[in-house]
Amino acid sequence: MSSSAGKVVCVTGASGYIASWIVKLLLNRGYTVKATVRDPSDARKIDHLLKLDGAKERLHLFKANLLEEGSFDTVVQGCHGVFHTASPFYHDVKDPQAELIEPALKGTLNVLNSIAKSPNVKRVVLTSSIAAVAYNGNPRTPDVVVDETWFSNPDICRESKMWYVLSKTLAEDAAWKFVKENNIDMVTINPAMVIGPLLQPVLNTSAAAVLNLINGAETFPNSTFGWINVKDVANAHIQAYEVSSASGRHCLVERVVHFSELVKTLHDLYPTLKLPEKSEDDKPYVPGYQVSKEKAKTLGIEFTPLEVSLKETVESLKEKNGLVFYAHAMFLKKCAETFPNSTFGWINVKDVANAHIQAYEVSSASGRHCLVERVVHFSELVKTLHDLYPTLKLPEKSEDDKPYVPGYQVSKEKAKTLGIEFTPLEVSLKETVESLKEKKFVNI
Ligand SMILES: NC(=O)c1ccc[n+]([C@@H]2O[C@H](COP(=O)([O-])OP(=O)(O)OC[C@H]3O[C@@H](n4cnc5c(N)ncnc54)[C@H](OP(=O)(O)O)[C@@H]3O)[C@@H](O)[C@H]2O)c1
Repeated sequence: MSSSAGKVVCVTGASGYIASWIVKLLLNRGYTVKATVRDPSDARKIDHLLKLDGAKERLHLFKANLLEEGSFDTVVQGCHGVFHTASPFYHDVKDPQAELIEPALKGTLNVLNSIAKSPNVKRVVLTSSIAAVAYNGNPRTPDVVVDETWFSNPDICRESKMWYVLSKTLAEDAAWKFVKENNIDMVTINPAMVIGPLLQPVLNTSAAAVLNLINGAETFPNSTFGWINVKDVANAHIQAYEVSSASGRHCLVERVVHFSELVKTLHDLYPTLKLPEKSEDDKPYVPGYQVSKEKAKTLGIEFTPLEVSLKETVESLKEKNGLVFYAHAMFLKKCAETFPNSTFGWINVKDVANAHIQAYEVSSASGRHCLVERVVHFSELVKTLHDLYPTLKLPEKSEDDKPYVPGYQVSKEKAKTLGIEFTPLEVSLKETVESLKEKKFVNI
């Protein structure tokens, strides 16, 4: 399993946060990478991979879906190693069985089935999770050291409705049984919450945990998690493939901290940043615990300190500070229960752009130009959205019990001197929703 340029390996779910880093490091080490993605026609899923050093020469994209039997047969043929990383990771699920458990469990068995038919594959590295380790019902307190002998208990996951944790627990368990029966060499990597720079242009769940803290949240979660840098996670995957003596499971946790400590570190790093000042509840803070680093160290992993990982995450989020991120952040908080008790003026972006050019071209133009098609309260916005999309789930009540903030008017006279014809709010709203749909920010 020694590192070797020219070897062919497969990475499943290559567009994802962790997998993108695995692909990058594999290409850097000279491997030829067969990368699977669900939708190779989606630029947001592949452009960042195609731009990686070595991609032009040694990256090959394949379409594959975890839920389709035999989907991975062709791609794993001829590979020496397979990194199975694809698995859904999000919390806001409506149907846990269909959305999380089936792709994780059936998907893993699907990939392993394809591998069982491919004699070239010498080792599989499975991206499992600390989720499949730490939830066995044992208390987790500061003197407790979690290690690779721990296995999460599916019944406890079900009782607590920890669906993502359950999906990873069932998937890893089934994988061990399958590889034993089919004589496949498998090594697992079991990271905690992964942070650090994002290569992909869309927000992933673990980076969202940091974005939520710096994006104006009033409270922080009363939760304690382990944290690990994405580059260490990707490196561990490749080491697990290359170090021939590697076997079994590898927990990857640099440090376990409560969210209050994360906020404190963020404050030390960015003193002017507005950060949440209190916990989401009045309960005592969920205690910390330890996670053994011994097994991970056998892979030669040097752990990036949490402070560095946090800084890298924030810098990366700042750098990508575009519409995509904010839209996704809002999407992650989807299904709002309430609408803001606020009243704003609204205007179509095309009218705004046109007004800028008119203001330049119309020689008599001077002074200031307010641009507002209509002023409405959010309740009216919701009503218009309902008229446009009657089946859409929309918030039904205001965020507070106060009277609605009243409307007002904004003069259009000055703007009209530029020849602006205002697009009606209904049209602008529809255009916005259709654009969000087209870019797959919303699924309606
Ligand atoms: N991030 C963490 O903190 C963390 C910690 C421990 C373990 N993990 C594990 O690491 C892996 C990657 O997670 P991530 O954080 O990198 O998440 P991510 O960015 O959301 O990536 C998940 C990947 O899984 C793919 N996927 C989901 N459903 C699929 C399906 N039905 N068929 C094919 N591909 C599918 C996604 O493909 P699309 O791009 O097409 O959606 C995406 O490429 C997962 O196994 C996760 O459980 C993550």
